[in-house]
Amino acid sequence: MLKVAIVGATGYTGEELIRLLVDHPKVKITSLTAKIDKPQNISEIFSRLSGRIDLQCADLESVDDVAAISQVVFLALPHRVSMKFAPQFLQLGRKVIDLSADYRLKDTELYEKWYKVVHSSPDLVQKAVYGLPELYRAEIKKADLVANPGCYPTGIILGSAPLLKNGFVDVSDIIIDAKTGLSGAGRKAALDLHFSEITGNLKAYKINQHQHMPEISQELTNLAGESVKIVFVPHLVPLNRGILSTIYFKKSRKMGLEEALDLYKDFYKDEPFVRVKPSGQFPQIKEVFETNFCDIGIWTEQQSDTLIVISAIDNLGKGAAGQAVQNMNIMYNFKETAGLL
Ligand SMILES: NC(=O)c1ccc[n+]([C@@H]2O[C@H](COP(=O)([O-])OP(=O)(O)OC[C@H]3O[C@@H](n4cnc5c(N)ncnc54)[C@H](OP(=O)(O)O)[C@@H]3O)[C@@H](O)[C@H]2O)c1
Repeated sequence: MLKVAIVGATGYTGEELIRLLVDHPKVKITSLTAKIDKPQNISEIFSRLSGRIDLQCADLESVDDVAAISQVVFLALPHRVSMKFAPQFLQLGRKVIDLSADYRLKDTELYEKWYKVVHSSPDLVQKAVYGLPELYRAEIKKADLVANPGCYPTGIILGSAPLLKNGFVDVSDIIIDAKTGLSGAGRKAALDLHFSEITGNLKAYKINQHQHMPEISQELTNLAGESVKIVFVPHLVPLNRGILSTIYFKKSRKMGLEEALDLYKDFYKDEPFVRVKPSGQFPQIKEVFETNFCDIGIWTEQQSDTLIVISAIDNLGKGAAGQAVQNMNIMYNFKETAGLL
């Protein structure tokens, strides 16, 4: 059994990692740590894990102690914090799957601008592999450090890839309207995330200012082979989990709905976690809840200049912990769907 450590085990993605990994046929969770005053059994912290795991969660006092009992380390830590620990685990010969944004942006200056901190291990940024299996599976297989993608970027990149890769749309005019549930913001209390602030409400925030902007641009640019221009409008909706992204493209050539659907079906034909909806059907957050699926639906008409792609993921599933487990499966040559289907 592969010995697994989760750092940041008391957060939302930490909890989801535990929920997935306790049932994984090839894995044993050997270490759970966070920023915590005194050790506490994880099933007391998350009572839904009661009866499924009996392990203390302790303060992350010593990287050496965690490394001594684990082979792979999931960092479910806030950005800016992960980069303090990733180099130490790597130095000790452990593989690292980082759920934060610290190693996702290849341009360190861009990272520093958006995350307002000096990067402490820019050399590792270049070695890190962006952990989106549908695009980087071969590189993930060989990686020591995987930068697990952000939640919004996952659904948006998967929803855009076939069109951009084939040059079928205008890359200077991509509009993304995306809606997320609240767990995307993590478990820490914040006034604007209170039930009373959110329930019965729907609001846009951080238009073209969201920290996922440069990550989306980086990957869409890689796919298109030229610089893309996006407008990104994120929204908060009164849901616990899930992201629905509606992406508006301008076609650069005539394309009907059947052709577009065939393009997507063909692009994702070997992918276990991307499901393309039939004509006239569109993804729903409910249908990807607590799964590692990304569902994609398409609308266009032959005579229309516009093509709309809608993608749905669970932000804690394919948008975080599920995808991290998928990456681990690839790195260790396990069945890619192990623990996830
Ligand atoms: N939530 C999502 O949907 C989502 C999706 C994709 C990616 N991500 C990324 O995944 C990472 C984790 O997100 P999350 O939502 O799980 O956040 P979270 O709920 O706020 O959890 C963060 C965890 O990190 C721990 N922590 C913070 N500082 C620490 C330190 N110095 N040493 C040890 N542990 C420390 C926290 O412990 P305490 O609680 O004790 O402080 C907690 O266990 C973030 O970088 C986030 O951007 C999140």
